[in-house]
Amino acid sequence: MQHRFRSSCILVATVIVFGTLVFIAVLERYKLDGATLLAPEGGQVPEFDGHDDELPPRIHKHRVARDMLPIDPKIIRRFQALSGRKQDDPELISFIREEFIEDRRPFLPKLSHNVYKTPQADEVDKYFKAKNDGFFVEAGALDGERSSNTIWFEKRFGWTGFLVEMDPSYYLQLRGKNRRCYTCNACISPSNYSSVVPFQEKGRGNGAIVPKASLSTFPCLCFPFYSMMRALDKVKIDYFSLDVEGQELAILRTIPFDEIDISVLSVEYLHTDKQQLRDFMESQGYVTAKTLSYENRRIPQWSYDFIFVKEDLFRAVNRTQEQS
Ligand SMILES: *[C@@H]1O[C@H](CO)[C@@H](O)[C@H](O)[C@H]1NC(C)=O
Ligand SMILES: *[C@@H]1O[C@H](CO)[C@@H](O)[C@H](O)[C@H]1NC(C)=O
Repeated sequence: MQHRFRSSCILVATVIVFGTLVFIAVLERYKLDGATLLAPEGGQVPEFDGHDDELPPRIHKHRVARDMLPIDPKIIRRFQALSGRKQDDPELISFIREEFIEDRRPFLPKLSHNVYKTPQADEVDKYFKAKNDGFFVEAGALDGERSSNTIWFEKRFGWTGFLVEMDPSYYLQLRGKNRRCYTCNACISPSNYSSVVPFQEKGRGNGAIVPKASLSTFPCLCFPFYSMMRALDKVKIDYFSLDVEGQELAILRTIPFDEIDISVLSVEYLHTDKQQLRDFMESQGYVTAKTLSYENRRIPQWSYDFIFVKEDLFRAVNRTQEQS
């Protein structure tokens, strides 16, 4: 009897000591700068809409993942030293190649959905007729899968390409999809020079360059399109998908179309003067082959794009279509 009582005491003591150790370990794990995380009152987690003005003063209000921005002072100094250089400046071009363009990922693709052909891809497809070794550029590429205009050409016909995405959270997802593409976490400059502009994250892939910096923007580095393409050593592009929420016309105006050969473009017209956009592209030898106006909120998929096709390609395809 007495023996059993002593065993029970030892058991209880062991449980208490062990339990205390586990409790302390858990406390340590959740300790944040001396404050312990507690369940909110009533055990309910308040909804967070991304606009919390009641943050304790020590927590910085920036909502962007700061550690993903290029903060290496050596890179920033080099970037600053190259401001004002021309688009074809060799030092600017090698800087982009060395510090900003990332190689294709040599791993199995990790996609979440069946490959989906966007209305843009469907239209662009008509001009290539199952061409096998094409090269595309997509900006902004978002997560590299949802609403991707180029994934069809990569998966179906084995094209390779270059994906540009400024939003750091999308960019991380994009890298994780293991697409067979070069990628770059920067933006295409709306001027003929590299520049720093404020970028604002928004839901549904509507993040964009905005006119003024604020607490919810972060500075992002931009490079001229032509310099980026020279860094990749690519001046022949089959398909360029341009959807960057407002800078489309400004970007197109920086492109020396006599130095770089782009066969087909899809350009979102929603945030730009439509007539100016068409006039500009037509003055550069393109035909406005199609105006897409499609919306499916369920997927979600928006396609408000012009399809611009180089005159000679357009004529060749039109001719064969009439003959058949
Ligand atoms: C920018 O470069 C393009 C292509 O070289 C050129 O046509 C255009 O005039 C330039 N823009 C300005 C403002 O210099
Ligand atoms: C295709 O070519 C014919 C004449 O060759 C022309 O009448 C027609 O407008 C062209 N199609 C488009 C969409 O421009």
